[in-house]
Amino acid sequence: MRYLIAANWKMNKTVSESIDYVEKFREMVKDVEGIDIMIAPSFTALASVSPLLEKTSINLGAQNMFYIERGAYTGEISPIMLNELNVKYVIIGHSERRHIFGEKDDLINKKILAAVEYGLRPILCVGETLEERELGKTMNVVERQIKLGVAGLEREIGLIDIAYEPVWAIGTGVNATVEQAQEVHLFIRNLINDISKGNDSDTRILYGGSVNEKNAGELIKAKNVEGFLVGTASLDPHKFYKIILETLEV
Ligand code: PGA
Repeated sequence: MRYLIAANWKMNKTVSESIDYVEKFREMVKDVEGIDIMIAPSFTALASVSPLLEKTSINLGAQNMFYIERGAYTGEISPIMLNELNVKYVIIGHSERRHIFGEKDDLINKKILAAVEYGLRPILCVGETLEERELGKTMNVVERQIKLGVAGLEREIGLIDIAYEPVWAIGTGVNATVEQAQEVHLFIRNLINDISKGNDSDTRILYGGSVNEKNAGELIKAKNVEGFLVGTASLDPHKFYKIILETLEV
């Protein structure tokens, strides 16, 4: 299994800032092998960044999408629009989509199914809030989000990746400990192995939540941590490159 190190830029970087980043970053990673790299700029930058990634090992990702091909859905982006820009990955169900924009598991499930149908590789994000963790509900929440998120795709779960992102760790500077990450990642691995009847070996379970160049080396050694989804630290190409280097050492 190749680990995946993914950058989620969120609502950061204009088109010119995105181009500037990619021009620097692709030079840094040009000799990196044996690992999958993805960057997810904002929608407005995808068309400009896409040609810059040709003949590089960097994959393009989107941060969200709608599940219908075309129509009267003001403000939405469809899978065929992403296909035309050579987008390979799409982040679905990020906690900011769930908590700020009110996305529910059934909408997330429709997006996951549509992404797969249109040849995109979804990264399904799951994770508990601080309150849910303190109430001892972490595994229940993660189980519900995964089961509902992948409904109808149980036997083909290998077509998606999953990111465990505890909400309390996102953008806070407080990452999960190795023990906390390991516990949930093991739970997820057993769960998806069970619901896919063993067809889960291509699914990578990423950790996300305040990953940076200092803690990446330790977190990547955790069992069943098969990559990262990085927000804040991915905004600086040097920091993101350092996270990749830490991963290559494992
Ligand atoms: P963060 O964001 O690295 O800034 O915590 C991670 C994410 O939301 O994917």
